Parts: sequence; structure tokens; C-alpha cells
Amino acid sequence: MPTSHSPRNRGTQTRLAYGLFLRESFRKIRVTASVLPSSRFLATAMLDQVEFRKVRNLVELGSGTGVITQEILRRMSPDSRLFALEINRHFVRHLGTCCPDTRLTVLHADASDLLNQLAAHNAGSIDVVISSLGLTGMTPEHRARIVRQAEACLAPAGIMMQFQYVTSLAPVPDLPNRQLRRFQEGEFLKKYFPSVSAKPVLLNLPPALVFTCRK
Ligand SMILES: C[S@@+](CC[C@H](N)C(=O)[O-])C[C@H]1O[C@@H](n2cnc3c(N)ncnc32)[C@H](O)[C@@H]1O
Repeated sequence: MPTSHSPRNRGTQTRLAYGLFLRESFRKIRVTASVLPSSRFLATAMLDQVEFRKVRNLVELGSGTGVITQEILRRMSPDSRLFALEINRHFVRHLGTCCPDTRLTVLHADASDLLNQLAAHNAGSIDVVISSLGLTGMTPEHRARIVRQAEACLAPAGIMMQFQYVTSLAPVPDLPNRQLRRFQEGEFLKKYFPSVSAKPVLLNLPPALVFTCRK
């Protein structure tokens, strides 16, 4: 009989997660920001900058079906905590089944409520924020509110990881102002963090730029 860890069961879980992700992206592509969950290449690039030995309090923004969440949990030390904020209730329910781990607190919340959510859970200061939010599709006010709070919750040596698909670097029509606009995530992040470096991940679909932001 297959156990929950058997390859057959894992294969079924992966197919379910892909199906759910695809369904939700058809419903709300602006919020989901992708039709596929992140690849292991992107998850690795997002997490390789994090010194898991040294961190205790972590935040994930936009956990989706848990691809990056599971990898964070695999790398985290036994005494650390992960607060995962996700706005989509179907993904929140899925995270409850795919990632049973006492170190994980899944919060059904908008990332722009981050500081309130952390205070309600006595989280203290945060060492790492790992965000796969589609900042490009958000209003300027919404993304500013989120990144300001991500910066504010971080400890002095804390870091924030964020990615942007290269496809979203293309100019989009700004209808009210009758012009084309391009959102450069790296430039935007530099308004909040003195140090922002970028690394391309060509093997993800679509390829992405991973930003490491330091206070
Ligand atoms: C590009 S997907 C990434 C999902 C997953 N982390 C992965 O890598 O496959 C972005 C995720 O952010 C969530 N999201 C979008 N806006 C959000 C917000 N304001 N607050 C919290 N989660 C949000 C979406 O529902 C979606 O799950």
C-alpha cells in the first residue's frame, strides 16, 4: 500500500498541486501571477542565499501550493519558525495538507497586513522574508505597502528574497496616462533596501531574476 511518502503518493500530490495552481491561475491570473508553480531551480536560487544555520524566524509571502515552503522546511533548523502568508483560501487549505509541520504557521492573509499578522503571533523580528508575490501586477500603493512592511519586520542583518519573471519586464499599456510602462522590480526594491543584487534563473519557466535585498 502506498504511504504518504511513497513515490506514487508524491506523484499524485504533485499532479494535484499543479492542477490546483492552473485552475486558480485561470480564475485570477493577476493575483496568482503565473500558470505554473516555481521550478526547483527557482526554489534553489531563492534559498541558496539564506544561511539557514543562523536564522530562527522566517516569513514566506505568497506560498501558493507550497513548492518553496517545502524546501524552506527541509532546510530550516528544528527550532526555527516559518510564517507563511497566502491570500488564496484554496492554497491555504492545500498548504495544511501538503506541509504538516509544527514549525509552520499558515496565515490566510494579504501580505500588506504583514506587521499585524506577525504581532498577533508574537513573532518578534524576522531574519528572512522569502517572497514570490507578483509585485508587477499590483497597484503601486499595494506593492509599496507590502515591501515597506517586509523591510520593517526584518532584523538589522535580515534579508528579503524576491523574484520577477523576465516576461513581466516587457512594457505594458498604462491606459489612464496613455503610455507604455515597464516595471523594473530591482529599481523598485532599491527604494527600500540599500543593497539589492540580482541573479538570473534561466531554467525556470518563465525565466526569472532573483533579487537579494539587504538592509
Ligand atoms: C507566483 S505565485 C508563487 C507561488 C509559490 N510560492 C511558488 O513559488 O510556486 C504567487 C502567490 O502569491 C499569492 N498572493 C498574491 N497576492 C498576495 C497577497 N497580497 N498576499 C498574500 N499572497 C498573495 C498568490 O495567491 C500565489 O499563490
